[in-house]
Amino acid sequence: MPGNCGCNTCAGASPCELNRDVCQLKELVRSQGKQLGQLVRHMKMGCKKPPKESTIKGLSPCLKCLQPDVLYHLGMDTATMDFPKVFGDVRFVCMGGTAERMERFAYKIMKELSLKLNPATTLRNMAEPGHRYALYKVGPVLCVSHGMGCPSISILLHELIKMLHHAKCQDPVFIRIGTCGGIGIEPGTVVISSEALDGMLNPYYELIVQGKVVLYSSKLDQCLANELLSLAIPCEDEFCTIIGKTICTNDFYEGQTRLDGAFCDYTNQSKTAYLQSVQCQGVVNFDMESTAFAALTNRANIRSAVVSMCIVNRMEGDQILSPPECLSEWEKRPQVLVARYIRKEFLKRDDDSDTEAYEEVCPSACLEGDKAI
Ligand code: URA
Repeated sequence: MPGNCGCNTCAGASPCELNRDVCQLKELVRSQGKQLGQLVRHMKMGCKKPPKESTIKGLSPCLKCLQPDVLYHLGMDTATMDFPKVFGDVRFVCMGGTAERMERFAYKIMKELSLKLNPATTLRNMAEPGHRYALYKVGPVLCVSHGMGCPSISILLHELIKMLHHAKCQDPVFIRIGTCGGIGIEPGTVVISSEALDGMLNPYYELIVQGKVVLYSSKLDQCLANELLSLAIPCEDEFCTIIGKTICTNDFYEGQTRLDGAFCDYTNQSKTAYLQSVQCQGVVNFDMESTAFAALTNRANIRSAVVSMCIVNRMEGDQILSPPECLSEWEKRPQVLVARYIRKEFLKRDDDSDTEAYEEVCPSACLEGDKAI
C-alpha cells in the first residue's frame, strides 16, 4: 500500500513527504536568509552617512581658502577632479622609490584582493600630468612612487595628505616599501623600522622654516610595525624579516659613510668604527626617506610604517653588487608582507557590500582610457 506521498517504497508515515517538506523549508530559510542579508546591507548603506570630514588632523587653516587647491606635482586640482568620488575610498597608501616598482606592486595588490581588470585595459598613472611621480589606484590602495630623499618624499606627502583630506578619507594607513643599506644584515633581508632616526641618532626630522630650525618627531607606529612583523612566516617565507632602528640620511655616499663616492674625507677604519657604534645602539639599516615620512604622517594623525629590503650589507662593502635578477626577485619580499597586511585588513571589513562593489571589474581602479573612475 503506497504511503501518503504516493510512493510505493514507504508506507503509512511518509518519510518521502517529510523529506520533501524539509528540503522545501530549508530552501525557504536559505532564500529568506539571503534576502534578509541584502536588506540588512541596504539598511546599513542607507543609514551610513557619508563622512563630513577626513580623519586627518593638524592641517593648515589656509587650506579652506584654497579654491581650487592645486596639487602641482601630482598634476591634479580640486576644481577639475571630484576628490571624494575618486579617492574617498582610499585606505592604504603604499609608497616606494621608483615608478616601475609601484606599478608592479599595484598589479600585485590587484591580484591579492581578487580585483579583476578587463584584459584589454591597463592601470593608469594618475599623476602623469605632473611629470614627477607615478600614482596608481587599485580599489582602496594607492601605489605611489616618491623618488629619492626627504625633500622628494616630503613634497609628495604634502600633496597626498591634502588629497586624502579633500577626499574625506577615513583612517588611511601609509606604508613605505623601500630599499635600504643593511648594517650587519644579509642582502635580501626585509627590515621593518622600529624608529626613524636622523644622522645624530635622534628621532627627529629637521626642517628650516623661516630661518629657524624646527624639529618634528619621527616616531613610527609601534603597533603597526609589530603587526607587520607578525605577518612574516619564518618557516614558509624564503626570506628573513627583522625589526630595528633606521638611520635616515640626506646623502647616499658620505652621509652613509661610504668610501666609494666622488669625495671621502675619512678612513676605512673610522667607517668601520662608526658602523659598529650605531649597530651597538640597535641600528640595522640606512635609508633616505624615513624621518620625513614618519614626521609628516605623524603630524597628520596618520598611522605609518617603513618596510625595506636590504640591498647591501654595509659591514662588508659599499657598492651594490647583487645581480639585477636577485634585486628584482628581492624587491617582491617587502611587497609580500605589505600585501598580506592589506589583504587581512581588506577582508576584515564588516561591510561586505564594499567587497561586492570591488569584486566585479574593479570599478575603483583607474584604468588607461577611462575617466577618473
Ligand atoms: N638605500 C640607502 O639609502 N642606502 C643603501 O645603501 C641602499 C639603499
